[in-house]
Amino acid sequence: MPANDILPGNIKNSDITILAIESSCDDTSASVCRDGTILSNYIANQTVHEKYGGVVPELASRAHMQNIVPVVNEALLKAGCKLSSIDAVAFTQAPGLIGCLLVGAQFAKSLSLALNKPLIAVHHMQAHVLANLINDPKPKFPFLCLTVSGGHTQIVLANSATELKVIGETIDDAAGEAFDKSAKILGLPYPGGPLIDKYAQSGNHRAFKFAEPQIKGLNFSFSGLKTSILYFLQKEINQNNQFIQENIADICASIQSTIINILLKKLKKAALQTGITDICLAGGVSANSGLRKAFKELGEKNKWNTFIPDFEYCTDNAAMIAITAHYKYLAGDFSDLSVSANAKAAWD
Ligand code: KG4
Ligand code: ZN
Repeated sequence: MPANDILPGNIKNSDITILAIESSCDDTSASVCRDGTILSNYIANQTVHEKYGGVVPELASRAHMQNIVPVVNEALLKAGCKLSSIDAVAFTQAPGLIGCLLVGAQFAKSLSLALNKPLIAVHHMQAHVLANLINDPKPKFPFLCLTVSGGHTQIVLANSATELKVIGETIDDAAGEAFDKSAKILGLPYPGGPLIDKYAQSGNHRAFKFAEPQIKGLNFSFSGLKTSILYFLQKEINQNNQFIQENIADICASIQSTIINILLKKLKKAALQTGITDICLAGGVSANSGLRKAFKELGEKNKWNTFIPDFEYCTDNAAMIAITAHYKYLAGDFSDLSVSANAKAAWD
């Protein structure tokens, strides 16, 4: 709890205006939220990494330093809000690239000190889940969320906005990495996930079969899939060096369908085990058109209420940090200025 005198007195859900900052990877984002309604969500994507085939941490930190002031100004402007009307400053504390997190953390701490307003530290993965609480209709507690991003793959049980538990996760690569690494093998540029999605739309997902991992419980594994794709392609290219070019749509559709099967099988298992029927998707990979369709179909078949955040709230964004901070504010969960960014912190 803060050692100073900046804690709000009687906390109630009215007129709470929060400025939130997200800088965990390669997007600099700021958002303003009032009483749980997002007033602005401004995101500056970093293009500097494209030519390197992945995010370069040092370049990402430097880009955050350049972006943070204009991004925060833009978010305030769009929300029609002055710094003086902010009640709390929130930021992504963990996990992420440490240099990137530090930029957001230091900025938020300085602002909190200068404005004499409370500081709220938010866990990025909790925020991906709570992005489902931004728009209506909202899931009812308890709900399950399959979070699929470039760095994480988790099944989360949410008993309330502040009581979340990871009940399944990847033991190696994340689903987004499985997409991006498969794309790399196919010679597609980074990030390859959206390109696999695009090619898959005109392909036959039954054309090729890739091995699915046999992992017990609710955990996932994707590293074997990458190897299976690599060996399969090496064999085919030996016989026909144009194999990838001639079959790109079918290869992408088959890879995508394998990843979706792995994800949804475990999600169905989690729903059966817990008896929960409000089920959400979150994270950048939930932009995948095949996954969205299969998730909705599975939901209809099993009579689930399914939820997917709007696209801008699926990939990294500060609105999800703001909504999470809103609930932390209501719970009186504030941090003092000694709080520091953490690349790997667990959250339950
Ligand atoms: O959540 P996110 O924006 O950032 C992280 O926190 O990691 O997720 C980025 C990941 C990347 O791996 C990207 O390839 C993947 O989401 N992605 C997709 C699609 N759009 C983004 N993967 C498959 N299909 C898509 N349409
Ligand atoms: Zn993320």
